[in-house]
Amino acid sequence: MLTRNQVEAIRADFPILAEKTYLYSCSQGALSAAVQRGLDAYLTSWKTSPAPWDEWVEVYERLRASFAHFINADPDEIAIVTSASGGINPIASALRFDSRDGVVMSEYEFPTMGQIWLAQAPRGARVQFLDGVKEAVPLESYERAIDEHTLIVPVTQLSFLNGFRSDVAAITRLAHDRGALVFLDGYQDCGTRGFDVKALDVDFFVTGTLKYLLGPPGLAFLYVRRDLIETLTPSMTSWFAQRDVFAFDTKHLDLAPSARRFENGAPPIPNIYGAAPAIDLLSRIGMDNVAGQIEFLARTFLDGARALHIATKTPDSSVGPLVVLRARDPAAALRRLTERGVVVSTRMDGIRFAFHVYNDLADVHTALNVLEEVRDLMVPA
Ligand SMILES: Cc1ncc(COP(=O)(O)O)c(C=O)c1O
Repeated sequence: MLTRNQVEAIRADFPILAEKTYLYSCSQGALSAAVQRGLDAYLTSWKTSPAPWDEWVEVYERLRASFAHFINADPDEIAIVTSASGGINPIASALRFDSRDGVVMSEYEFPTMGQIWLAQAPRGARVQFLDGVKEAVPLESYERAIDEHTLIVPVTQLSFLNGFRSDVAAITRLAHDRGALVFLDGYQDCGTRGFDVKALDVDFFVTGTLKYLLGPPGLAFLYVRRDLIETLTPSMTSWFAQRDVFAFDTKHLDLAPSARRFENGAPPIPNIYGAAPAIDLLSRIGMDNVAGQIEFLARTFLDGARALHIATKTPDSSVGPLVVLRARDPAAALRRLTERGVVVSTRMDGIRFAFHVYNDLADVHTALNVLEEVRDLMVPA
């Protein structure tokens, strides 16, 4: 567990925290001085380097290796893309919906996950959505739905809507036992705790840098399990997906034997320069420390919301990072929170409070104080 002084030192690197109660990391992480220096380094290299792309390709490969290390994967299993959608689409395009055609997912997936698989319907995909029951998706729903026709099970690690955490290990065991693949979307969790993609045994994993990974938008990572990579031939491709990027061989398609085969055109270099220092920063703080601070704050906040008798969407057992409270008038409540310097976001009837390692107890108390004032705009528990 981090000491107060250690949290203070971390906070000092994020200028906005001196101005705002920043509980917005589920939408966009705060900008650190480290990331700003990374972005400045990109501009300097562009301004001064006689061969910037030589440097930039090295930085891009270094980021692949450092993200691979971050999730306990091999660099060859990582594709660098510009969005989570940009990671899901090439896999969807590569799969065939013949002997198995079922895609089973919960209704709490991020919209892009539903929409990308629905777009495969003309190619034979049959998408089934599992209903939430009291803001959770019971494992039994997966048990009932996954069968010998199921091709793939997309799973959100933590729902953007209500902070519900999927039991990824159990769903993966179930899917694998029945011969189905698992595609984990970690966007709402990656950067908040240690993560080991091998231990979870998922087949595909996608996440992006702009939320809890504390980087800029326009950058995401796709992990593909080693033994699946060369069995998949995406129908969307690019020169950066070829075995030798710099062969410049217009007349031949020769896909890389690594996950780079799922990449789409030249990489987003400015975003790579911005994201790399953020991942280094989190690693230096230590992911157990990050997780401990988030759990402490999320639990304290949930206790506080309960004491105010405000209904929560997030389960009581949550360890964070996202706590969603139910609002009667979300727009008005958001306005009042914003006026008081509390930066949060709304989705449907929920107000989302997102905790990261740079938040402290004062942030929790400030948010709860405003909530006490706007209790009439919230749904009573
Ligand atoms: C769970 C989840 N998946 C995916 C995304 C974003 O997808 P994309 O990078 O394609 O915009 C978000 C939020 O923006 C999200 O919360």
